[in-house]
Amino acid sequence: MIISLVFMLVALQTAPANDPHAGRFTEGTGRRCASCHDKTPHAEDMYRAAARMETMTTDLSKGPLKPYGSVTCFTCHRGGGPEHMMAHPAALNRSAVRAMLNEWPADARATPEPVRLTMNEYAVSLGVKCEFCHMPGNWKADVKPPMKVTRVMETVMKEFPKYFDFANASAFTCFTCHQGAVKVAR
Ligand code: HEC
Ligand code: HEC
Ligand code: HEC
Ligand code: HEC
Repeated sequence: MIISLVFMLVALQTAPANDPHAGRFTEGTGRRCASCHDKTPHAEDMYRAAARMETMTTDLSKGPLKPYGSVTCFTCHRGGGPEHMMAHPAALNRSAVRAMLNEWPADARATPEPVRLTMNEYAVSLGVKCEFCHMPGNWKADVKPPMKVTRVMETVMKEFPKYFDFANASAFTCFTCHQGAVKVAR
């Protein structure tokens, strides 16, 4: 409660008085007002992208993510990085995901490669080991709470193409929100 009050005060101080986004867009994506509000074709693209992002963020937060807590622009964009210009979220390290194929437990190696790559992607995205979700040695067992949450998260992944064309939707992975941690930043 006190922490969120302090956070709100800080946000109010740094956002211009006429910012209807209350600092969420500028601090969340590391963009200036002009990045989206200039009368240039690029800024108009940014404005349209941001409008879709706003709809997506609200829909996810009120929809499938509701039991777990909302997401914000900051969740994926993390303030845009030091350059203050970069709005593309950090991407999943695909070579780390591939490299993990060699670390698979012997009793699960017969699993088809696409499933193994998906599992590695989950582990890298959340920064966890297989045991976070599974009972080692009993890979089919569905007893740990993160297994159930993961099934909900898989439905979240299906939402992104509704807001983007196919090429852009592929930029979304578990890592886009989690970025190597179980808890997400907001
Ligand atoms: C990442 C892009 C982005 C940034 C950065 C941004 N805005 Fe916006 N702004 C939008 C979008 C999209 C809308 C449309 C309504 C909405 O989704 O809130 C909007 C709406 C507005 C409106 C209402 C009028 C309109 O054009 O629809 C004002 C005023 C405004 N912004 C001012 C600001 C100010 C001041 C800043 C800087 C502190 C800022 N914006 C930063 C994208 C942005
Ligand atoms: C679930 C993760 C996620 C959330 C939440 C999110 N974004 Fe994005 N955003 C992305 C991804 C991924 C891309 C890059 C898509 C691509 O590669 O074209 C992107 C791209 C953008 C772009 C275009 C960047 C460029 O240079 O082309 C803007 C502007 C943007 N987001 C603004 C916002 C704003 C404003 C919010 C909050 C209302 C927001 N985003 C919330 C994931 C997210
Ligand atoms: C974030 C949770 C999570 C992590 C981490 C994870 N898994 Fe999974 N795993 C699942 C879920 C959920 C399924 C069920 C299939 C699905 O819904 O995608 C599954 C399915 C499997 C299966 C197939 C079981 C069957 O039905 O035949 C195997 C084998 C497996 N995982 C092994 C692993 C290994 C090995 C790791 C570590 C490299 C791992 N998993 C990491 C959640 C996870
Ligand atoms: C749109 C953003 C978003 C995406 C994409 C996403 N998650 Fe999540 N995830 C969340 C939020 C928000 C929470 C709640 C975390 C918190 O309490 O901070 C969460 C929580 C979880 C948890 C529960 C962690 C715990 O506390 O036990 C698991 C497991 C999980 N996610 C797995 C995944 C997997 C696997 C994927 C990809 C299939 C994924 N997530 C994709 C936003 C996301």
